[in-house]
Amino acid sequence: MLSLFPFPLHLLLLLICFPVFSTNQQSLAPDSSMNRHELETLYKIMESLSADEDWRAAYPNPCQPGSGWTGIECKHSTLDNLLHVTRLDLGTFPNPACKNSATFPPEIFHLPNLDAVFIFQCFTNAPARISIPPNKLPPASPLQQLSLRSNSALIGTIPPQISTLKSLQILTLSQNRLTGPIPVEIFTSSSLLHLDLSYNTLTGTIPPEVGNLGKLVGLDLSYNKLTGAIPPTIGELRILQKLDLSSNLLTGTIPDSIHELQSLVFLALSNNRLHGAFPKGLINLHSLQYFLMDNNPMSVSLPEEFGQLKKLQELRLSNSGYSGTIPSAYSQLLNLSSLSLQNNRLSGTIPDGFTNLSHIYHLNLSRNFLQGVVPFNSTFLKRLGRNLDLSGNSGLCFSPSAAADDVIIGVGVCGNNDRISSKPVKKSEAALLHCSTLLFVSLCFTILSFHHTIYYF
Ligand SMILES: *[C@@H]1O[C@H](CO)[C@@H](O)[C@H](O)[C@H]1NC(C)=O
Ligand SMILES: *[C@@H]1O[C@H](CO)[C@@H](O)[C@H](O)[C@H]1NC(C)=O
Ligand SMILES: *[C@@H]1O[C@H](CO)[C@@H](O)[C@H](O)[C@H]1NC(C)=O
Ligand SMILES: *[C@@H]1O[C@H](CO)[C@@H](O)[C@H](O)[C@H]1NC(C)=O
Repeated sequence: MLSLFPFPLHLLLLLICFPVFSTNQQSLAPDSSMNRHELETLYKIMESLSADEDWRAAYPNPCQPGSGWTGIECKHSTLDNLLHVTRLDLGTFPNPACKNSATFPPEIFHLPNLDAVFIFQCFTNAPARISIPPNKLPPASPLQQLSLRSNSALIGTIPPQISTLKSLQILTLSQNRLTGPIPVEIFTSSSLLHLDLSYNTLTGTIPPEVGNLGKLVGLDLSYNKLTGAIPPTIGELRILQKLDLSSNLLTGTIPDSIHELQSLVFLALSNNRLHGAFPKGLINLHSLQYFLMDNNPMSVSLPEEFGQLKKLQELRLSNSGYSGTIPSAYSQLLNLSSLSLQNNRLSGTIPDGFTNLSHIYHLNLSRNFLQGVVPFNSTFLKRLGRNLDLSGNSGLCFSPSAAADDVIIGVGVCGNNDRISSKPVKKSEAALLHCSTLLFVSLCFTILSFHHTIYYF
């Protein structure tokens, strides 16, 4: 019995002491808390980027909590009982600032546990290029999020090797100076959830392989110089919630397959060269809240089907050569807060039901051929104030029975030749106008932040 005792006791002691031992190890011998090779890689990354030249001496243990090195996150791994870098954030305060001659550090792809990299406003002086080591040996980079944003000196093409980052879920290369075509290899990154290449100078077409990204929730290719048609394979992105292709040089029609995108909440195609007709299946986009399609030479009539998209909050179809009447079905869009139909060739009357659009506070119907009596009552007019624009429709007028307060600048009273009212705005009215302008600004803000939320979660 006595002979057996020392062994369990030894084990017991080890078990009791282990947690104490392991925490002591970190505080007593901090150098050993990080793999030296990984630490060296991290220093090399900082050498390429950081404006702080003394970091090697100043931060001997950058992963240690309280090391003072901002812009870094580390996690303890139970596999090797070491701290590993999991996130790097560089470029703007409070994160480490970049030096003028910063170059892109391919070493980031060698950090074995790195989940996320954010490099924001870092390469702004000396030209830098994204560089990814060619097909490196396993273990593959575990990187899930790569965000290189607002780097005005980040030039060159998107390297096809980006597809070797097999764990990549979020790729943001927005607001840089990237050129050339979108490498088709990017569309083999099947784990991608969000792809944002907006605000660059990318050229070429949107490859049909885009349809391979079956897990994609957000796709933003806006503000580039992409040409050609929207590939019909876009319909294969079944769980897509945000699609922004605005401000490119896209031609052709909206592909019929768009009706497959039944999770779509935000669709922006503004500022392209798309023409009519609209696909019939538009009616299936029942999750749609934002449809932004200003400035396209559509030159068809407005589709009735929009009236079925009951969740629509913003509908922008200005400056696109639409003719015919405004479908009265649009009065069913009870959640609509903003409707832009200005600068078209719309004729006929404003649907009576519009006065029931109780959430609307921005309505622009200016510069069309609308005529007849404006159907809005005073509640409506007061809510919209200056966010109602009916100007440039020479056939529109106000019922003479409308209260004097309700008369809108740019529209005269029916039967009165002096159509342009120059009545001074009353004080109470001015306050209301001010109020609705504020409301509009705050909506714009909401939309903008929605734009971001949907993208970054
Ligand atoms: C209208 O908007 C409200 C509030 O945003 C929302 O709760 C409601 O579900 C929306 N209605 C429709 C038909 O989408
Ligand atoms: C406005 O809505 C009410 C209630 O749903 C309805 O009775 C009325 O006909 C509508 N007005 C117009 C002009 O469509
Ligand atoms: C204007 O119309 C709306 C919607 O039909 C109604 O709720 C409101 O009471 C009306 N306002 C006036 C002053 O008649
Ligand atoms: C309506 O559209 C016209 C033409 O684009 C623009 O000049 C005007 O400012 C807009 N009005 C409102 C209230 O947004």
